[in-house]
Amino acid sequence: MQIAKTIEDIKMIISEAGSFGKKIGFVPTMGALHAGHISLIKKAKQQTEFVVVSIFVNPTQFGPNEDIDKYPRPFEADLEICKHNGADAVFAPSAQEMYPQKNLTWINVEKLSESLCGKTRPNHFRGVATVCAKLFNIVQPDVAYFGQKDAQQVIVIKRMIADLNLPLRIVVCPTVRESDGLAMSSRNKYLNAEQRKDAPLLYAALQEAEIFIKAGERKSDFLKEQIKKILNISSQIAIDYISIVNADTLDEIDEVKGKVLIALAVKLGPARLIDNILLDVK
Ligand code: PAJ
Repeated sequence: MQIAKTIEDIKMIISEAGSFGKKIGFVPTMGALHAGHISLIKKAKQQTEFVVVSIFVNPTQFGPNEDIDKYPRPFEADLEICKHNGADAVFAPSAQEMYPQKNLTWINVEKLSESLCGKTRPNHFRGVATVCAKLFNIVQPDVAYFGQKDAQQVIVIKRMIADLNLPLRIVVCPTVRESDGLAMSSRNKYLNAEQRKDAPLLYAALQEAEIFIKAGERKSDFLKEQIKKILNISSQIAIDYISIVNADTLDEIDEVKGKVLIALAVKLGPARLIDNILLDVK
């Protein structure tokens, strides 16, 4: 596995692979890799011939009071994980390498960046879209792999690719969970034992909504109430949002029908946790 810290080096490594006609798969990450990230690397390995993983804690997607400084950076362990799971190259640039001067050019995917997580994290998706566009330009992958865990991120990136005619395809991989249902996340490390005990309530609440929908319930307000009841079992959970939206437009819907995204975000102790389910409701 080759490791590059500069744009020049990763471009050289990839152009060599490309010159052999290899299809390039790309997994952008912020490191602190876990089984969720690994599932993306493995999928890329199955579907493409040269897998590039980026590890970059992107400063432009963190708000002023967010966790960039304490975001975990177990770099050596991450490299081992990449190597062990078949990555061919890792791109791990510094912030200086990615942003050598004050960034003046931003990609703002309007509307889709403003709802759900965008409400409490105003510039977050602008930072995500911009860094992904930069990484796509550097790596020039045929296919990039993203997790359903960050549902709004997938929708924003897909729209950027469509609107800007970017020459790559996105593959979305299912959310990988702990055995008790908690979606794997680098931020789960922030939870103490008490908080960790309550964290599976997020997925339990989403599953409860799915059970109601399967039984014929269609009213979003009712479903949101059920989700809220389950989250409120924990006195430590502070709800940021519970949203039931059209999975393409992210518009709130009163009645569930078609491709529906049920998404939620909570604060649990020091961690902001998100989870979602995607349903096709007849
Ligand atoms: P990060 O949070 O490190 O996630 C990298 C990728 O792993 C994302 O596509 C995310 O959705 C996916 N992922 C995380 N947890 C997952 C899980 N439990 N199951 C499946 N996939 C999971 O998302 C980012 O980094 C950044 O915003 C990035 C796209 C790298 C831009 O900076």
